[in-house]
Order: sequence, then structure tokens, then C-alpha cells
Amino acid sequence: MNFLGTVIASSYPPGPTTSNFSFVVTNNEPIPVRKGQFVQINTEDGLLLGMVQEIVKTNRFYSHPEYVREYERGGQPLASIFPCDRWDMLIANVKPLGVFTNGIFDKVSFPPSPGEKVYIADDEVLINLLGLDVENGLNLGSLRFHDLPASLNMTRLLQKHLAILAMSGSGKSYLATVIIEELLSRKPDSGRVAVIIVDVHGEYSSIANMPEKNDQLDLSEKVTVIKSPFVQFATPLISNRWFGTLQPEMSPIQVRELGRIIAEMRREYQNKSYSLKDLLAYIENDAKIPQRSKEALLGWLYELEETDLFGTEEAPNLENLVKPGHAIILDLSEATSLKKKQLIVAYIATRLFGLRRRGVIPPFTMILEEAHQFCPQARQELAISQKIIEQIAREGRKFYASLCLISQRPVRLSTTILSQANTHIILRISNPNDLDTIKASSEMITSEIISMITSLPVGEALIVGSAVNYPIFVKIRQRYTKESSYEVDLEKAAKIFEEQSNPKKQIK
Ligand SMILES: Nc1ncnc2c1ncn2[C@@H]1O[C@H](COP(=O)(O)OP(=O)(O)O)[C@@H](O)[C@H]1O
Ligand SMILES: [Mg+2]
Repeated sequence: MNFLGTVIASSYPPGPTTSNFSFVVTNNEPIPVRKGQFVQINTEDGLLLGMVQEIVKTNRFYSHPEYVREYERGGQPLASIFPCDRWDMLIANVKPLGVFTNGIFDKVSFPPSPGEKVYIADDEVLINLLGLDVENGLNLGSLRFHDLPASLNMTRLLQKHLAILAMSGSGKSYLATVIIEELLSRKPDSGRVAVIIVDVHGEYSSIANMPEKNDQLDLSEKVTVIKSPFVQFATPLISNRWFGTLQPEMSPIQVRELGRIIAEMRREYQNKSYSLKDLLAYIENDAKIPQRSKEALLGWLYELEETDLFGTEEAPNLENLVKPGHAIILDLSEATSLKKKQLIVAYIATRLFGLRRRGVIPPFTMILEEAHQFCPQARQELAISQKIIEQIAREGRKFYASLCLISQRPVRLSTTILSQANTHIILRISNPNDLDTIKASSEMITSEIISMITSLPVGEALIVGSAVNYPIFVKIRQRYTKESSYEVDLEKAAKIFEEQSNPKKQIK
């Protein structure tokens, strides 16, 4: 058994109570206990579980500074005069989380007694307490301070949307890759979703790389990469209202006129496909629309036409490509304007949600990098994709359409969307405004936890919300698939540049 120590009757903070107690560590290992670790006690009420909130080190010999100074004035350290080491003492303060009685987990309604023995929590109990899904879950890494996989149940993690928040360079995209690897390696009888990744920086195609080791899964067959120049919208699918959201400056009257014109054009074209160019020509020839409305409408639609996105057929063909256990990576790194990126996201998201509602495509999760660019909080920002993403955030759960929002600026992300994400995975954040936003977004996040977020190392995460019963800290596992290119440092980049511009001279 992993014995730690004994509950004490303490006066500061007063305890044991139902909301906190302290124990003195009697285990002799050098570092027997750590902040954040889960512990258990057998009480008369059942098995009580708690989390170590703080650890205090004390030593009576050093508690009066004037004595220490007086003794050590003579040049001899105190420890050479007295057996100080033996009086080193660790007191750990614990927040009780719940109590197991007859297999049922309940709130703590009776305090543990002084003298009771404290142990490190057993794995089985911890799995139950935290609500992990060890058999069938997504393995994101290992629980900090416990030798347990952080396997999260897929439904609990994704169905009510997920947000991954942290400053840049702290491991958001890496974690998203780990989640994708887990989703793509599921077996059909575990339940598989389709994955759509909005890859703003073009960094996800490495998921299709060969795995690090031979015995790990090769995902290359399960990934389709589409670069933005190859994206094309099927104009005949776009209704007048939909045009209205893609070009928000169109007036309601113009949208109505467009509706009439599209209806007439469809009748005339019957089953023949048409592009936005055809539609524009049709509007030019329309005699019914007042001249001023016509000019305005043409102006707005020409602006859309200039993006080169509106064709006759859809590419990629979502009906064919969105498959269970398969990922589509939409690489937007070559799309230069934010408007173009937003148009693509708005079109794809609208189509995915429509197809999903009709049951044409399987349940899916859409991973959205730089989510604050696509659904900003500030009203004056360009936000063509906002409406549909907010709709999926609100209604997606019923249709098994889920969102995984990634952002390094939570404060700039629409609060409507953030509040719909029921699980938050938070990596290192230090910006105080972002921390405030995060604190406001979940009542589970206490000031204690906030202080832990600011000191998280790269690749460690806090998970809170519906995926787990209690907030947990997780060390994110290594990805199976190889990272595409290792970041080159400034010195190396400078040398490469000089070598390339002056090939004769090899710079050492
Ligand atoms: N869990 C992890 N294990 C190992 N290395 C990691 C981990 N998370 C992040 N890293 C390293 O940190 C770098 C930055 O991570 P990245 O996911 O690109 O950050 P972000 O998307 O938050 O800007 C990665 O290239 C990787 O080398
Ligand atoms: Mg990133």
C-alpha cells in the first residue's frame, strides 16, 4: 500500500472538516507526496477521496529566527549542534472530493477523524472518481503524479464541444494531433467519427507521415489533405439566404430579389449546374429588379466572385470524403486573406451541418485552429463564419456534430461559443486577460488552479468540464506520427540563407 501519513487535528486551517483536512507525512521517502495528487482514507462513512491542495514543510528548530541567528553567529550551522533533520516535517492539506459508499460516489457529509491513515489513491478508485474510460477512451497521456492513462470517454469529451486554450508554443496543435491520432485509430465497434481539420497554418498534413515505430498505426490511408486553391463551392447549392450570410452587407431586399432570381434561374436551368458567373449574367439580364438594387446586388456578388471559390461542383466532395475514422485536412495556409478563409470555413461548416442533419454523413468533429479568427468576440471584426459556427455550437449536440475550438487568445473568442464548449483543455497561459476569461468560463476553475496554469510546462494540460468528474492535470503523450519539420533556429536559418545565395562558399 502507498501509505503517506496520518490525519491531524489542526487549528490553521481548522480541521478535519468536510471541506478540508491536513495530515502529517510519516512516509520516509525523499518526496512522498505532491500537490495535485489524489489520496484516500478509509472512514466510517466509506472510502473518502481527496486532492492534495498544499504542502507545508516545517521544522521547530528553525521557527524562531532569533535563535537561529544567535546559534549560527558562532560560525557553526544549527544542524551541527542539534538533530534538526529529524524534526523536518511535511504537513499536507487536502480538499475532500467525495466518498464511496456501497459503490456509489457521494458528496462528503462527515469529516475524517484525526489519527486516520492516508494513502495514495488506488488506480481503480481513481478511474471511478475521475470518470475515465480506460478501455475505450481517447488516451491523451498520463495523469500527473499517478501511473494512470488519461483516457477520456469520447462522448463526454466531444459531444458537447471541446475548447483547447493556451498561449502559442505551449502544445495546442500537438495535443490536437494526439486527439486526431486517437480518433483515427479507433475500431468500428468502438464508434468512429469523421474528423475535419481547419488547418490555418498547414501543419497537420504530417499526420499522414509514417509513424515513429513500426508497430504503431500508419494513418496515411486515413487522411485526405485539401489545399485551399482546390476548394470550390457548388454554387447551385447556395440559397439566397446563404448568400446573405456569405456577404453580410447585402440588404434584406437584395436578398429577397436574389431569391426570386435564383428560383427563376433554377427553373430555366432545370438540372443543369451553374456557377456564380452564370448567376451574375442572369442578374444582368433580369428586367424586373430596380436598377439601383441590381447594381448593388451585382456589386456584392462580384466581390464574392473575385475570390475564385464559387464553381459549379463541390470540391472536396464532402458527401464522399467525410467517412468514419477518416480525416480531411483543409490546408488554408495558402489563402492570403482572412475573408477567403472565413468564406471557406462558412461554406464547409454549413454543408457539413446540413449533410449531418439529413444523416448523409456520419457523426463528425470539426477541429478549428485559430478559432478566434473565425468567431471573434468583437462586433466590428469580419465574421462571415460566425453564424454557422454558433449554430453548430448551440444545436450540434443533437445531431452529433461537434466542435473542437483551438485558440491562443481566448479573450478574443466569442463568449457565446466558448460557453457552449463543455470541456476545456488548458495548457500554459500567462496573459492576465486570458486567465480572467478562462476563470469566468467555468466555475470548476478556482484561483488555486489558475496559479497552476501559469506555471505549466509545454505539453502539460489541465482538463476541466464534462469529460472528467474533477479537474485533472495531464502530461500529454508523445504523438505516434512524425512531426513534419523540426523548427530551425535563427542561427541555422541565417546560415542556410547564406549558403544558398553563395553556393561556392561552405559556411562552417
Ligand atoms: N506533449 C508534447 N510532447 C512533446 N513535445 C511537445 C508536446 N507538446 C508540444 N511539444 C513541442 O512544442 C512545440 C510547440 O507545440 P505546438 O503544438 O505547435 O504549440 P501551439 O500549437 O500551442 O503553438 C512542438 O513543435 C513540439 O515540439
Ligand atoms: Mg498551433
